[in-house]
Amino acid sequence: MDKQKEILKSKIKEAYLGGGQDRIDKQHAKGKLTARERVHFLLDEGSFEEIGVLVTHRTTDFGMERQKFYGDGVITGYGTVNGRLIYVFAQDFTVFGGSLSETHAEKICKLMDLAMKTGAPLVGLNDSGGARIQEGVRSLGGYADIFYRNVMASGVIPQISAIMGPCAGGAVYSPAMTDFTIMVENTSYMFVTGPNVVKTVTNEEVSSEELGGASTHSTKSGVTHLTAAHDIDCIDQIKRLLSYMPQNCEGKTPSLPYDIQEEYRDELEKIIPDSANKPYDIRDVITGIIDTDTFYEIHEAYADNIIVGFARIAGKTIGIVANQPMSLAGCLDVDSSKKAARFTRTCDCFNIPLLVLVDVPGFLPGTDQEWNAIITNGAKLLYALSEATVPRISLITRKAYGGAYDVMNSKHIGADMNFAWPTAEIAVMGAKGASEIIFRKEIKEADDPAAKLLEKEQEYADLFANPYSAAQRGFIDEVIQPRETRRKLIRAFAMLENKVAVLPKKKHGNIPL
Ligand code: HXC
Repeated sequence: MDKQKEILKSKIKEAYLGGGQDRIDKQHAKGKLTARERVHFLLDEGSFEEIGVLVTHRTTDFGMERQKFYGDGVITGYGTVNGRLIYVFAQDFTVFGGSLSETHAEKICKLMDLAMKTGAPLVGLNDSGGARIQEGVRSLGGYADIFYRNVMASGVIPQISAIMGPCAGGAVYSPAMTDFTIMVENTSYMFVTGPNVVKTVTNEEVSSEELGGASTHSTKSGVTHLTAAHDIDCIDQIKRLLSYMPQNCEGKTPSLPYDIQEEYRDELEKIIPDSANKPYDIRDVITGIIDTDTFYEIHEAYADNIIVGFARIAGKTIGIVANQPMSLAGCLDVDSSKKAARFTRTCDCFNIPLLVLVDVPGFLPGTDQEWNAIITNGAKLLYALSEATVPRISLITRKAYGGAYDVMNSKHIGADMNFAWPTAEIAVMGAKGASEIIFRKEIKEADDPAAKLLEKEQEYADLFANPYSAAQRGFIDEVIQPRETRRKLIRAFAMLENKVAVLPKKKHGNIPL
């Protein structure tokens, strides 16, 4: 009996260490922290309470009954980050490659159920070779149990997935259904089928990194929202992300103390170039509006013709969606529409007010865009913004042309406050293009067609290349000076703080997916 107790004690010690020392060394040699170290660095000191440390797998096939590890390859529990409750699971690659067994899945599901019952965020630290091969369909079922819970929890509690090692096969679909994915550069990858299968099926030669590394998913596919240089950076970013989020869909976002002062920002006066065709960095506008150093950009390297991210204004969280004139002149295309639509819905789920900065010459033309369904994808953003019930404010800094004017949080689709700078141009299209169409005959018949075109361009620009005709109709609530923008936004967001908007009764809408 005593011997049995001794064995149990040493096994528990091993489980707490995340495997024996040799396993820890192996993990460190790959440049990765162990699962237990990751949990330690994520949570407030001394706050972790572990659940299910004595769980072992139930498999007897392939001699598995002789290989059991307490915890079964995943650490699960709860604790606090900056004093706020979260649930966390961390897969332990040193135990069967962090693979997901029936019991491993049960531990994660138990945590998800608790997170839902108590309304607190769930953070998954993924480092796993996928379904535990020795368990066959039982591990597949385990995955599906997790997927189902991911969907049920979607929009109820924030779900964050860190990819801190391999994430292969069906294992990628749980992170894909959470709100945010963060990948660690050089040590993590995500793919449905690995390089060997790719070679067999398509004859393509591709490395794991190229196929599904952090840089691939942050630039090409947009699968990951964020990347981290290493494990500690990843953990710091999870904490930063949580600092903007409420505990659940009924909670308020955490707000920091802020004393409102004069709030004029003269630097905003110098951003818009003299020429309408000259680009500028919309990040300079963002910086001039928000609280110092609070912008946390999401999907930074993907579809950079639109910028999305969290920030604080007078201490309160807001989400920002902004056309970026530095890339594709700020046009809306397939990828930027998807990116902005997804971010809009994330903010709307979690009561995060939206600020939309508009400088958009329209949708990007071309066969590539049309054949890749710019119609359906552009409609995603139109739908997402129309449906969002959080406080919504727009600021048109320069161009708001064509359908993109409607899409980018116009008054007509339910925005609460619409501001414009005096440099705003709100029209069906640019002056040159418009004049060439509507005055074609007049220009053609003129003695000097070039001079006539310029004259007509000016006529059109005088009428429409300004915010005043929209403001006369109430489509713009106020034309404001750049330097007073932050002040106006602080006041408008405060005015909208208790906004209540209810959508028509329905089972759910049918967003054009
Ligand atoms: C059981 C596994 C495992 C798995 C790894 N291990 N993956 N055990 N089931 N899925 C074990 C290895 O046997 C090894 O055990 C230890 O973990 C470390 O693995 P290594 O291969 O030595 O590590 P590394 O070289 O870093 O390679 C990591 C890896 C590779 C790339 C993840 O292990 C691998 O390709 N694993 C299989 C991936 C896979 O095909 N999974 C199934 C996907 S399908 P020892 O005892 O030697 O240390 C799937 C379906 C889900 O997930 C469907 C849901 C819808």
